Amino acid sequence: MDKKRANGRYYTCGNPFQLEPFQTWAEELNLERHTVLEPFAGTKSLPRLIDSAQLRCGNWALFDIEPGATGIVQRDTLSDFPKGFNVCITNPPWLARNSATRRGLPFPEAAGYNDLYKYALEQCLAHCEWVAAIIPEAFIRSGLFLQRLRDFISLVPRTQYGTKQERKRKEMSYMFEDTEHPVGLALFSPYVTSDVRVWRNNRFLGRLSELRTHLPLPSCNRSIVFNEPRGSLGLIAIDNTFSASIRFCPPAELAGYPVRSQCRSITRIGVPWRVNIELLNARLATIREKTHDVFFTAFKGLRRDGHYRRRLDWALARAIVDMEHLQLEMNME
Ligand SMILES: C[S@@+](CC[C@H](N)C(=O)[O-])C[C@H]1O[C@@H](n2cnc3c(N)ncnc32)[C@H](O)[C@@H]1O
Repeated sequence: MDKKRANGRYYTCGNPFQLEPFQTWAEELNLERHTVLEPFAGTKSLPRLIDSAQLRCGNWALFDIEPGATGIVQRDTLSDFPKGFNVCITNPPWLARNSATRRGLPFPEAAGYNDLYKYALEQCLAHCEWVAAIIPEAFIRSGLFLQRLRDFISLVPRTQYGTKQERKRKEMSYMFEDTEHPVGLALFSPYVTSDVRVWRNNRFLGRLSELRTHLPLPSCNRSIVFNEPRGSLGLIAIDNTFSASIRFCPPAELAGYPVRSQCRSITRIGVPWRVNIELLNARLATIREKTHDVFFTAFKGLRRDGHYRRRLDWALARAIVDMEHLQLEMNME
């Protein structure tokens, strides 16, 4: 397992290349005219998927540090990236720095990234004009490489919980054979883009800059204290497995939960003014609806309503609580 982890090896099995935004991207660059680079080719899943999406490309140039099929050139492409290719379609290795450190695995520290896929993506963008990369869904919240990013698709398996057969289909439709990590497909162009179009599968959610307008202003109000055992506000910061259930609540509801200092899920918050829980939850609901949860961290596994489970991070929770305070202050003036 660790060898698999060291090379960030999770093979693609869903087919994101059938989606409209990818088809438009492929059309624009004239895919069939190009030799496409796959610098982390694994078992050649991506050429197969492109084929079954009825797309053609001129040819493939396939590399991997540990080729899993014939026709792949053995090369450490992270330290010796192949040159001379305009188009790159890939699913690079993913490996979080802390996971590498914990397991004693090698990690390119010099680049300063917290995940190997970011370094791999930087290499692809440095050497290729058009890049399509299957990467963690969390990428869209990282703020990285936005200049040439034109589309970002959150890839959500389509089938939902239901009968045993449906559940089996759902498992099959996940992007990876051995992880249910939330994934996205990032489409880059050679040009500086004015904005990023954000999609959930084929559904256009909005432009990134427009979605951001629905977020409250960031707050650095440190009088709002998270994981405060005697805090006057409760927060259930993760969705359950059924629906979008993140909510603020009276602290009495959490009486049975120990508040731990590192907790990021169910906690109490110290707020030095009287909070209106209903208002906070209404605000939260509006943000979720208007932003389509794009800025909420996704969890492994789907909710029964077919969406990823999400988590509300402390920065956004603080901004929501502080926003209410600012409004109260304004009303009193
Ligand atoms: C996430 S897997 C993806 C495989 C394939 N692209 C797919 O979608 O099925 C990442 C691949 O990167 C390869 N890899 C990891 N580090 C590498 C390196 N330094 N140079 C070349 N390939 C590497 C792994 O061997 C693995 O096959």
